[in-house]
Order: sequence, then C-alpha cells, then structure tokens
Amino acid sequence: MTLSGDAPTPDTRSSPASSSAQPASAKAVSASWTWVPIRSLGPRHRERIAAHLLALGPHDRYLRFGYPATDAQMSKYVDMLDFEHDEVFGIFSRRLELIAMAHLAHATAKPGATTPSMSEFGVSVLPNARGRGFGRRLFEHAMLHARNRGVQTLFIHALSENVAMLKIARNAGATVERDGSETEAFLKLPPDTLASHVGEMVEQQAAEFDYRLKRHAHQVNGMFDVLAEVKSSLAKTSRIAEE
Ligand SMILES: CC(C)(COP(=O)(O)OP(=O)(O)OC[C@H]1O[C@@H](n2cnc3c(N)ncnc32)[C@H](O)[C@@H]1OP(=O)(O)O)[C@@H](O)C(=O)NCCC(=O)NCCS
Repeated sequence: MTLSGDAPTPDTRSSPASSSAQPASAKAVSASWTWVPIRSLGPRHRERIAAHLLALGPHDRYLRFGYPATDAQMSKYVDMLDFEHDEVFGIFSRRLELIAMAHLAHATAKPGATTPSMSEFGVSVLPNARGRGFGRRLFEHAMLHARNRGVQTLFIHALSENVAMLKIARNAGATVERDGSETEAFLKLPPDTLASHVGEMVEQQAAEFDYRLKRHAHQVNGMFDVLAEVKSSLAKTSRIAEE
C-alpha cells in the first residue's frame, strides 16, 4: 500500500536514483551510536499504531500523509496495513506506548523479479519524543531491512517544508528533488552482505527481548496497582467496621 492517499506508488515513478543517487553514506549509521530497540510490528499492534497516529496533531498529520488526515482516514489506513507485504516497525516507551513508528511500503516486484526494486518510507515520532534521533534510527533500520530484502532504492515523499525529514534523507546520502511544495528523495542502497543480515538478526532479537522485559514490568506494575487498591479498600472496610 502507499503511504499517502495522494502519492503514486513508487514503482509507477520514473526514478533517477539508478543514475544519480549516491550510495548510502556511512554517516547515518555511525553518528553518535547508542542502541535504540526497534521492534517489528504485526496485526496485533493495530490498536497501538492507531493510538500513536491519532495522537498526532493536524500539522503533523499533514506532514506525515501529505494531507490533513482525519481520525477516520487514519483508522482506515491502520485497518489496511498489510503486514505480510510491507514492514512496520516501532519504538516503545517503558510504558509500552508506541512513541515512534515507520512504515516501509514495498512496491510490487516487477514480472520475473523476486524482490521489489523500490520501497517507500514513512515515519512519525510523537512530539514529546522528537529531537532524540528516533526518526533517524528508524530510517537506518529501514535501510538495513530493505537492503536485506534486495531492495535497491528507498523512496521518501515529503513536503518541501519538512526540514527534519529531508535532513534525515540528505544525511543518509539521498538525492533530493524539489518540485514546489513537494519533494522526493531517492536513496540508493548497497547490496546485502552476511554482516547486514547478522546485524538485522541481532537487532531484532535484542529488540524483542527488550519488549518482553517492558511488557513484564508493565504487568508487574499492574499487579502492584491492583494490590494497592485491594489494600486501600481493606483498610476502608476495617475503618467502617471499627466505627
Ligand atoms: C520528521 C520526524 C519523523 C523527525 O523525527 P525526530 O525523531 O525528531 O528526528 P531526529 O531526532 O532523528 O532528527 C533528524 C535530523 O533532523 C533534525 N531536526 C529534527 N527536528 C528538526 C526541526 N524541527 N527543524 C530542523 N531540523 C530538525 C535533527 O537535528 C537531525 O539532524 P542531524 O542528525 O543533522 O542533527 C518528526 O518530526 C515527525 O514525526 N514529524 C511529523 C511526521 C512527519 O513529518 N513524517 C515524515 C514524512 S514521511
């Protein structure tokens, strides 16, 4: 599926990427590295994805989708997410709130090809989690994911005013083409290697482990809340009995 109702699918565009885009620079992957757990999302995360998107204000929705998406349009987008064909991943807070998410929409593979040649990247980070490098990290994660699936070019459709998104693309070495209020960025990906596959596998397992720990902590906190409630109602009951 496309990332915006209006934008054409990546495979219908004539991309200059094969001739003029620079290879992904090492800058994006090496700058100030601290591990951020990025987890793949599936159908069971639809509710959390919807909560994340619905928390975005009108301007953010406009930047993300290219139009001021209504709650109903975003719910429809979430319902239509195809987790088999595309890839969706996110960053969870300790309270298991989805604070950042990205959608990597793969173009349909051309006849005779086993992998799509291009994938479109879309991302959103909740306002209170911005400026901490999550947008960049999700982009790097998408780069790794896409190249390991044989994708040659990553495509970003952004509004020209979207400085942060275009900075992420430029920093990674993308060719950026402005057309009035809209801008397209094409990033040529290097081919996959054994190291890129091992890197993805390790990252996925570590992120899964981190998610389980957070879920466990969340459940334990929930139990403490219930215990506190039981304790306070017992205390109340015994006070009433004493009176
Ligand atoms: C675009 C967006 C995902 C960036 O997320 P983020 O986590 O804040 O971005 P990062 O912290 O990784 O910053 C990436 C770069 O942009 C820069 N940047 C971040 N916010 C910026 C801003 N408001 N103005 C200018 N530069 C900004 C950062 O300094 C960084 O550049 P650097 O690495 O050269 O220092 C976030 O602003 C967002 O969700 N916006 C609404 C939805 C949207 O626009 N999606 C993109 C369209 S698909």
